[in-house]
Amino acid sequence: MTIQWFPGHMTRAKRQIEEKLKLIDVVFELLDARIPQSSRNPMVDEITGTKPRLILLNKADLADPEMTAAWSRYFRSLGKETLAIDANAGTGVKEISGKARELLRDKIQRQVDKGMKPRPVRALIVGIPNVGKSTLINRLAGRNIAVTGDRPGVTKGQQWIRFGGDLELLDTPGILWPKFDDPQAGFRLAATGAIKEDVLHIDEVACFVLQELVGRYGFVLAERYGLEELPPELPDMQSAIDVLENIGRRRGCLTGGGHVDYEKAAGILLRELRAGKLGRITLESPDDFELGG
Ligand code: G4P
Repeated sequence: MTIQWFPGHMTRAKRQIEEKLKLIDVVFELLDARIPQSSRNPMVDEITGTKPRLILLNKADLADPEMTAAWSRYFRSLGKETLAIDANAGTGVKEISGKARELLRDKIQRQVDKGMKPRPVRALIVGIPNVGKSTLINRLAGRNIAVTGDRPGVTKGQQWIRFGGDLELLDTPGILWPKFDDPQAGFRLAATGAIKEDVLHIDEVACFVLQELVGRYGFVLAERYGLEELPPELPDMQSAIDVLENIGRRRGCLTGGGHVDYEKAAGILLRELRAGKLGRITLESPDDFELGG
């Protein structure tokens, strides 16, 4: 695999986030509910330090609800509060400030004990590109604002977005880079559209997706593409290519010589997967990482 994780990216991102941490009470770590582990930056613990953190499993509308519940259980078993949301439609978004206040209960209580009126909780969203940071900020703001992640100089130009009476959000999210030296994570990020298609071969990504999906979602694939019943496993690349070929034939992806155009077939499969046309699908489970469900 030729993808590199540039250390320079991370150093800069880390510095920018560290500056913002001084201004806030709680971090909202945005993950993609379809790939909670692969969309996580492994350095997030180090970067956010001891700040209380709420994990938001975004795009839950596209993810398998059972698997989202398993991931929420997993994160909670690590002591991390978790909420599944759909930033596009707004589902779950109203619960964010309540969860954040729960995390800061002791701090808020101390303010009350001192006779102070608790001020709104201040939060920062962090997450990898495309995970939905701008969508969530716009949703909380209740309007479309130009969200930029890389604005230099934290003290200048930062805006607080007020949500309800008790939450304020920095309008510049912290951008973390996914780490994909693990080839599986790379394929999962490509499958969900988190990294650009031209980084990996689209037909390889499609074959990976077919191999991953056939066990849990084989019936969905068979139904969507009018395929015969699929085996519970596609043990090698050739068996995945055969399925992709069938999908291509079913969808009329043929070249002049009557051969299947694999790239076209792969494009259809990935587009439909990302758009939720195959149903609600999660590409990894806590068990895949021996993390326990
Ligand atoms: P970023 O700031 O973290 O880079 O991500 P951004 O908000 O730009 O969102 C990336 C894409 O993910 C957008 O789609 C956005 O609509 C979509 N998205 C964000 N949150 C959700 C969600 O909860 N559910 C679903 N289904 N999609 C979500 P896009 O294709 O780039 O643009 P568009 O189709 O919305 O025009």
